[in-house]
Amino acid sequence: MARKKIALIGAGHIGGTLAHLIGLKELGDVVLFDIASGVPQGKALDLSQSSPIEGFDARIEGASDYSAIAGADVVIVTAGVPRQPGMSRDDLLTINLGVVSKVGAGIKAYAPDAFVICITNPLDVMVWALQKASGMPTNKVVGMAGVLDSARFRFFLAEELNVSVEDVSAFVLGGHGDDMVPSVRYSTVAGIPLPDLVAMGWTTQAKIDAIVDRTRKGGGEIVGLLKTGSAYYAPASAAIAMAESYLKDKRRVLPCAAYLDGQYGVSDLYVGVPVVIGANGVERVVEISLDAAERQMFDKSVASVKTLIGASKALDPAFA
Ligand code: APR
Repeated sequence: MARKKIALIGAGHIGGTLAHLIGLKELGDVVLFDIASGVPQGKALDLSQSSPIEGFDARIEGASDYSAIAGADVVIVTAGVPRQPGMSRDDLLTINLGVVSKVGAGIKAYAPDAFVICITNPLDVMVWALQKASGMPTNKVVGMAGVLDSARFRFFLAEELNVSVEDVSAFVLGGHGDDMVPSVRYSTVAGIPLPDLVAMGWTTQAKIDAIVDRTRKGGGEIVGLLKTGSAYYAPASAAIAMAESYLKDKRRVLPCAAYLDGQYGVSDLYVGVPVVIGANGVERVVEISLDAAERQMFDKSVASVKTLIGASKALDPAFA
């Protein structure tokens, strides 16, 4: 059986880490694409030279032309610029909308059958724009946010409860970061809901509240420490979990920014919800009933995604 092909659009911090993980896990061959001259080629060569030591077989190549992604099974998009000092939200939106438009056209031309995972921020808007620009089916274009947010939540809970991260399962909905809607009642340790663990005296509600707050601000905490750049190890791992579920038809239930067409009362928007990812992409949106507090947070999150999409339409008539 031929190896799968995974195209990485953007060979920066996350792109390079994605390529490394794909090699280590032998998920397939990799094409690293970037507009920065020499960067994807240099990273591809460096990663390839790690393969004899690590013992993986994968062809990793750098590219500066979209034709190199032809026939990719999965495309993961990190291309874009981060917000710089002095740059307004609209400036960032304008630049990254332009990037995502070009990327969407490239994928449409060379890899129209791929499963596409968007990581570029502001995520919920960029994945929406990428789907529009590529014209691909909505079940084949998703955004990575919830797997990362829930991993942060799981890690903090495991630390607090002094149990393995593997046994902590966390449930999140809504947009990325500050807009995330954690569902404490659906988060568990080995099937035991968090409220029960509070009642059992394993932790306190105040500590859970502090963990929820820290999780929401998880990206900012890392930016504050790094000072130049944002998180990349965990974001890359999160996208790989999504890609792996698609490539191996695992049908994992993962929180992703998925296209909603009436679910949760939302239409023509990408919002973070749990979905089943299998060989057909997003195979099912898991629609739970929200309690009043969750609904309020979810609605707020949807409203902020709508505001950014309105701004995007105003900035670029191609999206109107
Ligand atoms: N086409 C291809 N690549 C591009 C384009 C473009 N039009 N514009 C920029 N790039 C490349 C840059 O050259 C850079 O190598 O995208 C890469 C982005 O890499 P980093 O700046 O290192 O950013 P990274 O940490 O990888 O994060 C990427 O993910 O989490 C989000 O907010 C983050 O939007 C950012 C993205």
